[in-house]
Amino acid sequence: MMTTWALKADHVSKQFPDGTLALEQIDWAVEEGETMALIGESGSGKTTLLRLLNRLAEPTTGTIVVQGKPAASQDPIRLRRSLGYVPQDGGLFPHWTIKRNVCLVPHLLNWSAEDQDDQFQHLMQLINLDAAQMAERYPIELSGGQRQRVAVARALGANPAIVLLDEPFGALDPLTRQELQHQFLTLKQRIQKTMVIITHDLPEAFKLADRITVLKKGHIHQVGTPEALVKTPATSYVQSLIESHGSSW
Ligand SMILES: Nc1ncnc2c1ncn2[C@@H]1O[C@H](COP(=O)(O)OP(=O)(O)OP(=O)(O)O)[C@@H](O)[C@H]1O
Ligand SMILES: [Mg+2]
Repeated sequence: MMTTWALKADHVSKQFPDGTLALEQIDWAVEEGETMALIGESGSGKTTLLRLLNRLAEPTTGTIVVQGKPAASQDPIRLRRSLGYVPQDGGLFPHWTIKRNVCLVPHLLNWSAEDQDDQFQHLMQLINLDAAQMAERYPIELSGGQRQRVAVARALGANPAIVLLDEPFGALDPLTRQELQHQFLTLKQRIQKTMVIITHDLPEAFKLADRITVLKKGHIHQVGTPEALVKTPATSYVQSLIESHGSSW
């Protein structure tokens, strides 16, 4: 059977105007329906790769393909609305209510008020928050963990086929983080989407992802299942990453 790729990067490099080479000759692909974790130290190019996928940035060389079509040939606004995105800082608008934040894309797509209401109820249920209680609150009136869940709900706003999550559970205490990881797994089973999730945390990647991409200084060191990373680390860097986590799973 032929693999269907939801996302692909062919020979992709990204150099910023100041000369920083954030990604160098990346060949990478995500299968339809899989959860891919991106892991690597700070500055390794994780956010840059995610932003190339939804055209918040353009590659210097190479091609990004989204659902079989070159990203460069797709209208950037339409493309962005078809990809759910949780930016690294959550990206909720502080002066908008939770409901308005979550229904941002459905609203832009001119969904009826009734469909937006239904979708809001549905998404709040998915992330385990009380819709009635949350609807009119502002992001500042939520706990950090609740805000991060709302950012995930917003990314799912108009039922995108692909969701990109940039450290959605960063900066949380270990217990809340565990709880959100658990919810993420439940969500993943229920929605069956293609997901790319960035994390600093190898145990988190092991827990949540079908495959893991290890990035270092703009290069891919390995793409593989958790098992493959443990059994056949492709480079000494991957090996040291695994060893440094020893018995933590
Ligand atoms: N707009 C920009 N202009 C210049 N350099 C940039 C820009 N955006 C990112 N970079 C640089 O590109 C490299 C990769 O950054 P990126 O944000 O992709 O890292 P990251 O892996 O997401 O790191 P972190 O884990 O800290 O979020 C870094 O050296 C960063 O300073
Ligand atoms: Mg980042």
